[in-house]
Amino acid sequence: MDFDEIIDRTGSHSVKWDMMETLYGVSPADGISMWVADMDFRPPACVQRAVEAMAAHGVYGYFGDDRAYLDAIGWWMRNRHGWQVDPSWVFTTHGLVNGTAICIDAFTAPGDGIVLMTPVYHAFARIIKAAGRRVVECPLAEQDGRYLPDFDHWDGMMTGQERMLILCSPHNPGGRVWTPGELRAVADFCLRHDLILVSDEIHHDLVFAGHRHQVMALAAPDIASRLVTMTATTKTFNIAGAHVGNVIIADPDLRARFAQRMAALGISPNSFGMQMAAAAYSPEGAAWVDALMTYLDGNRRLFDAAVNAIPGLRSMPLEATYLAWVDGRGTGMAPDELARRVERDARIAVNHGPTFGAGGEGFLRFNIATPRVRVAEAADRLARAFRDLQ
Ligand SMILES: Cc1ncc(COP(=O)(O)O)c(C=O)c1O
Repeated sequence: MDFDEIIDRTGSHSVKWDMMETLYGVSPADGISMWVADMDFRPPACVQRAVEAMAAHGVYGYFGDDRAYLDAIGWWMRNRHGWQVDPSWVFTTHGLVNGTAICIDAFTAPGDGIVLMTPVYHAFARIIKAAGRRVVECPLAEQDGRYLPDFDHWDGMMTGQERMLILCSPHNPGGRVWTPGELRAVADFCLRHDLILVSDEIHHDLVFAGHRHQVMALAAPDIASRLVTMTATTKTFNIAGAHVGNVIIADPDLRARFAQRMAALGISPNSFGMQMAAAAYSPEGAAWVDALMTYLDGNRRLFDAAVNAIPGLRSMPLEATYLAWVDGRGTGMAPDELARRVERDARIAVNHGPTFGAGGEGFLRFNIATPRVRVAEAADRLARAFRDLQ
């Protein structure tokens, strides 16, 4: 595990590095890519060995026999999250955007409202709209620079036409690890308004010391009949290109409806994804994640100290994820001017706040899962790009 190793990802079909110039006007030649949520690190050696074994064998036929994969998921959820998952509850989708899309298809109808706690991971709104459903944006409240749910406000926004809530837990982009009390309150909100709850827990392994993620299934066991939980190896172990996700459904009726849509769409597993995931969910993978979080903690401290030293900029304290959410509203600059300074002056490609929905205006999201020297370089460049404020 050498998280300090600089790996040149250009020319490797990396969306993060090979598309940054097209999308953000920042060339990889002199720029730093800090957008999209994948890491500039190699996965743990156990994953690499699984891929090498497949390559050495050299025959790439259809996948079969998912026992090792299901055992590995069961082991991981039990050991890392204290959650007992029955293998029959698990569906494998082509990632969790795909899993979310199938949930929308299976459990809602065109025109239905789907509730998002915004700002939130941008793909949710994109697929809701593409599926002909309505995005219902429930803005998170801000208190002392952290996001909080705002149920009193949201209760008044419900019209009876909403069918689903998609929760991001831990939260991207705010970095919150929702407390057991907050999770319970989300579940009660779904009960009050008769909503299916899709709990996207893709970031649940990327939690910093001092915080503890609780799976929704344990925070509110009584909502099993309306709960879909989504988890993945891809964010945790940096294997997003494998496009493999776990959709976990305990309720037999919801499960039958989900299975029907999977069958109708002809979705079957990708052999690489299955074997990488099975290898990752292991004691070796667990030790790697622990080391990763210690490293990311160092990056988080360095980045936050530098950003918070710039008057008017503030990095939300991350409890989880490697996605720093920087509030630029205090500079008084228009969002375009903020982005211009970061992209044109500092030469850093970042995600723009408004793409995360209501409440994202004036924010930028920085991916800090890169070798520390790059985070330090980004910090210096930001200080220079905003030096007139010092
Ligand atoms: C909350 C959340 N869900 C899903 C995804 C992507 O999932 P996948 O790559 O499995 O489609 C991301 C990626 O950043 C994410 O932040």
